[in-house]
Amino acid sequence: CGIVGVIGKENTVDILINGLQKLEYRGYDSAGVYVNDQNGHDYLVKTKGRIADLKKAIGPEVKGTMGIGHTRWATHGIPSDVNAHPHVSADGRFYLVHNGVINNYAELRDQYLQGVHLVSQTDTEVVVQLVDYFATNEQLSGKEAFRKTVQLLDGSYAFLLVDREDPDTLYVAKNKSPLLIGVGNGFNVVCSDAMAMVGQTKDFVELHDGELVTVKKDGIAIETLAGKAVTRKSYHVSINESDTEKGTYPFYMLKEIDEQPAVMRTLLQKYLDDAGKPKIETDLLKALNQADRLYILAAGTSYNAGLVAKSIFEKLANIPTEVQLASEFGYNTPLLSKKPFFLFLSQSGETADSRQVLVKVNQWGYPSLTITNSEGSTLSREATYTMLLDAGPEIAVASTKAYTAQIALQTILAKALGDVRQQTTATDFDVKGQLSIVANEMQSLVDEKELINSLAKNYLATTRNAFYIGRGYDFAVSLEAALKLKEISYVQAEGFAGAELKHGTISLIEDGTPVMAIITDKRVASHTRGNIQEVKARGAHVLTIAMDSVAQPEDNITFSDVDPMLTPLLTVVPAQLLAYYTSLNRGYDVDKPRNLAKAVTVE
Ligand code: G6P
Repeated sequence: CGIVGVIGKENTVDILINGLQKLEYRGYDSAGVYVNDQNGHDYLVKTKGRIADLKKAIGPEVKGTMGIGHTRWATHGIPSDVNAHPHVSADGRFYLVHNGVINNYAELRDQYLQGVHLVSQTDTEVVVQLVDYFATNEQLSGKEAFRKTVQLLDGSYAFLLVDREDPDTLYVAKNKSPLLIGVGNGFNVVCSDAMAMVGQTKDFVELHDGELVTVKKDGIAIETLAGKAVTRKSYHVSINESDTEKGTYPFYMLKEIDEQPAVMRTLLQKYLDDAGKPKIETDLLKALNQADRLYILAAGTSYNAGLVAKSIFEKLANIPTEVQLASEFGYNTPLLSKKPFFLFLSQSGETADSRQVLVKVNQWGYPSLTITNSEGSTLSREATYTMLLDAGPEIAVASTKAYTAQIALQTILAKALGDVRQQTTATDFDVKGQLSIVANEMQSLVDEKELINSLAKNYLATTRNAFYIGRGYDFAVSLEAALKLKEISYVQAEGFAGAELKHGTISLIEDGTPVMAIITDKRVASHTRGNIQEVKARGAHVLTIAMDSVAQPEDNITFSDVDPMLTPLLTVVPAQLLAYYTSLNRGYDVDKPRNLAKAVTVE
């Protein structure tokens, strides 16, 4: 979910709506705002649906100089008007927005709120009613009632609370879920991602778990839940509001697919010197060099990028590498090697599943690196080392440029480590030259939009299911290719290792089932061609993506040869475009597929 708040601004409603639009990637099931003009008038507007729906629901009378807003990704309770935030206490005194999950809400409800009529199914409503309960029954101030409530909670939360009896103050608390204060001149803002408020200020103060913050228009006061004052300096962010616009593109996803060659070049410039040698923090390389095993932790698309990187690290740096789903690793931790090094891959830097592992890794005292696209994000702050993807804001829910940037940056890192370890595979590898060739070839592929759109129409327009197959790197890409198709076009798609099809999955092939085969590795190209014959014999409609040296005249999409290790950076591009056009042709909202959110900050 996304949270915004502002105090001390005339155009509060516009600031909240604009901020929520920037945060819509965090969820878009329902949305709401509460605003107060600090002069006796206040308004609560909430609705099921998108920010655009909320905007329509806000009448001209709704004005304020302070307020809070929320866009929701449903956890407890279906998306509906009543389950939308802000939630309000029964007597209308307290208004609360929340991101996270309260595990013990049912116990707290049963213990304290027997006499209170709850209108929604949410854990959040229990929290706001509890604040009211303590304020009323124990004669606590709004702030102390909030403190007492927060101390009782078990779970994750970022909260923004308004006490109607003191509209000159916003109260903030967090645990696990991200939240920042943006510092202005004569006003202050609160948001779960700086991107929401960069139009207002570039100076942000990060908050830590277990802190309670009082925000007024001319100052903020941070304290621990135990009441100890905390001082913390603000930091400056470099994002521009214009980076978050989609310009002339119909959808962010297409813009972000197109940006990939430029993202490759930015990485080369940032992480390589003029001679093409990697520029990596010395301490980081030292820590990596001391490790006996690399553990890559991630979720979703980032996990798929980790699968590709595993082979690259093993090949260039000769370091055994395991890739694990963060959500599994945290609770089903495998037997660790003696000197593990943890690499967190996360576009947003906020994924709760990954963060819970990092918290454990820090407790264990092992070194870690976060590779992320989000400067100042939780995972980057809390890891020992950080490397930024610098891919520019990725806004479409389906990740594209972050995937390719993650692979490219890990290639540079693997090369650097391999150099330190004097691996000839690394010293012989011209990372600058090879990635530059990839960037050029990527450009040719993103320019094939017409061809790929027609293939999407021909193969995927009406199908219910589809398969991607490949071996080695092509298998790893098949997983990401299938994920893209599932996410935005709702085609039930699976990626398979070519040889595995005949061990079960081939039973799903029927007349007309689309099978997309990725072929780049000459050692196994003929085997994959064999698998194509097997599915064709059973009626499959086969589309091929092949590298020139193994291509055949009938292949649908081909590209010039690059280092085999880097083929995922290219084969994924037509897959991204196939997913994009399939979604577009089916009339879906490409950037905001149903049920998904871009950054999932609950476990
Ligand atoms: C969400 C998104 C996915 C993303 C995953 C991991 O589920 O919908 O697109 O890959 O989170 O996100 P991260 O920001 O950690 O890379």
